[in-house]
Amino acid sequence: MSLLRESSQGVWGSRWTFVAATAGAAVGMGNLWKFSALAGANGGAAFVVVYLFFMVLVSLPVLIAEVVIGSRGRANPITASQNLAREAAVSSWWQLMGWLGCLAGLCILSYYSVMAGLGIAHIDSIFTGQFKGLTAAKVGEAFNQLLADPWQLALWHSIFLALVVLVVSTGVERGMARMARIILPVFVLLLVIVVLYSNRMGDMAAAQQFLFSFQWQAITPEIVLAALGQAFFTLSIGLGAMMAFGAYMPDGRSVAGLLSAVVLIDTAVALLAGLAIFPLVFSLNIAPSTGPGLMFVALPYAFGHIEHGELFGGAFFTVVALVGLSSGVALMEPAVAWLVERCKFKRLFAALTVGLLAWGLGIVALLSLNEWSDVRWLDRSIFNWLDYISANILLPLGGLLIAIFVGWRMRLEVVRDEFYKHSGVVFVLWYWLLRYIAAPAVLLILLLPLYRWLVATA
Ligand code: PFF
Repeated sequence: MSLLRESSQGVWGSRWTFVAATAGAAVGMGNLWKFSALAGANGGAAFVVVYLFFMVLVSLPVLIAEVVIGSRGRANPITASQNLAREAAVSSWWQLMGWLGCLAGLCILSYYSVMAGLGIAHIDSIFTGQFKGLTAAKVGEAFNQLLADPWQLALWHSIFLALVVLVVSTGVERGMARMARIILPVFVLLLVIVVLYSNRMGDMAAAQQFLFSFQWQAITPEIVLAALGQAFFTLSIGLGAMMAFGAYMPDGRSVAGLLSAVVLIDTAVALLAGLAIFPLVFSLNIAPSTGPGLMFVALPYAFGHIEHGELFGGAFFTVVALVGLSSGVALMEPAVAWLVERCKFKRLFAALTVGLLAWGLGIVALLSLNEWSDVRWLDRSIFNWLDYISANILLPLGGLLIAIFVGWRMRLEVVRDEFYKHSGVVFVLWYWLLRYIAAPAVLLILLLPLYRWLVATA
């Protein structure tokens, strides 16, 4: 069966629009808040090294595979996986890839929106100079007060989700994607300036030692799982968001090179964020295992102590909110595209439906940061469980299905055909990595907690 070669929405104008759009969906709050929180809680270098390893050997091959599915399927993730399962003459159970993705997207969007809402809240407080001259302890107190106030959190969470719904419902995502061409370089530039400030104000040597001085013995199964989860989360893979980008790929374009550039940009942003945040963390004596507070204490403190910090910091958090918005849009798009294409919903209605579900789940997540903070299971709050299940289980599971499907189930000629103009060597290398490294590695790591649980209960 030959499938439609054109998405109903056309193709990307240029290679760089594709790279910027894909990087725009990848780079987001996760590079700042989640990367620093995870690196801080998981021993720094041990996490960073395992994460970098996974980025190259697992995430990049899976990202390419996901784009290949989108490029071949040219539809929302569920329909694309149904179509391709039919084309490959395999069980229709493979559509689970699409369903799991929509579920993961919804879960992540709910708590992502709470974090991105915190980012928006900081635009206002930094522009109005609320951190001017404050000690780190006072900035930390202000952040804890914000976390303790469900109404404030709900307000900013609602504002962020309303913006995502607005962008998705007007169908201007591709406009947003084009905007990423401007926003991303500005974000990187501002981040570099913060790193330079941090270098002056903070303890860069301690930060570098923490982030890069690696010891094998420090690696634990938890760190490996956290690093794998983050390597999927940060690239927005495993849930079908990247399939949409593949669906707009013009024929005859080489994907591997362009997607390697995306991985490079995303990794550079995460490392820069680490070098911006950790020197301050060490000079201010903040515990690296503080969690999300790392970003929301260290950066506002810095902006409160530098000249024109209100303006610079306000601009910085505005750009952070914008990159968060493009990630939020990527999270919502798979489910919305399915509701529109399959259930014939109007775009606005589809976006409102998904938005409302994510909003409700987000309210539960944010209440677990304050009113319901006692509701814990195995030492994790509801917020942490949502994050753990979606990032550490659903995304790797989605990635595993994608890797097995493209690596072992799709016909080789079809996959080869989607690889366009690549030389044989690049194709063979990618295909080999996908089949023999990425898929088995993800499978093993996913089974690890199960194995440990079995051993513990035996
Ligand atoms: N990659 C985004 C970030 O690092 O902020 C988060 C994300 C967006 C995850 C879209 C998954 C996704 F589909």
